[in-house]
Amino acid sequence: MKFFIDTANLSEIKQAMEMGLIDGVTTNPSLMAKEGKIDFKKHIAKICEMVPGDISAEVTSLDSEGMLKEGREFAKIASNVVIKCPLTLEGLKATRIFREEGTKVNVTLCFSAAQALLAAKAGASYISPFIGRLDDIGQNGMQLISDIVQIYENYDFETQVLVASVRSPMHIVDSALLGADVATIPFKIIQQLATHPLTDKGLDAFTADWKKSGIK
Ligand code: G3P
Repeated sequence: MKFFIDTANLSEIKQAMEMGLIDGVTTNPSLMAKEGKIDFKKHIAKICEMVPGDISAEVTSLDSEGMLKEGREFAKIASNVVIKCPLTLEGLKATRIFREEGTKVNVTLCFSAAQALLAAKAGASYISPFIGRLDDIGQNGMQLISDIVQIYENYDFETQVLVASVRSPMHIVDSALLGADVATIPFKIIQQLATHPLTDKGLDAFTADWKKSGIK
């Protein structure tokens, strides 16, 4: 399972890279906006230099022509840029064209298996189902991952399932059990994945015993 980090913050990306756990980065307009008045293309270029894997840069146009114009510019930034398009009919139209041009697309804002099926048919490299936001409205985000994994397996679609809107370590474990290809994870959750109270308790006991022992 690949781990992407879901952030546009360079310090978080640097720290996660140092942990040796990160295979790529996903950004979105909200995450970019959190970084203040940055130059979008320069910021994406910096991320592409820091991380050798796929880096998602999201278009903000709502029509396919605008998405294609933006995405073609983003694709020039670096060879590891993946264009993020919304799951709308216009977004799917742009996805098909990007695919024909040899540019990878991450289709985002997916909330149903039907939408995921369309993204695969359009030739998306990644589909991003937002599981946390489904859980937030009382629906079962993990069931959506299960359904998409099953559908893609049924037809040998190459589109990778990229679990997004992750809110807890259990989202990662459950996604891994279902065979999702990638999870994009906020920095805080990456840290939480590594922690367990029994690990801390055990380490404290080992350290105390070692100090008391006098062993050199
Ligand atoms: O990258 C998009 C996605 O992960 C958003 O997550 O927490 O804003 O629902 P969230």
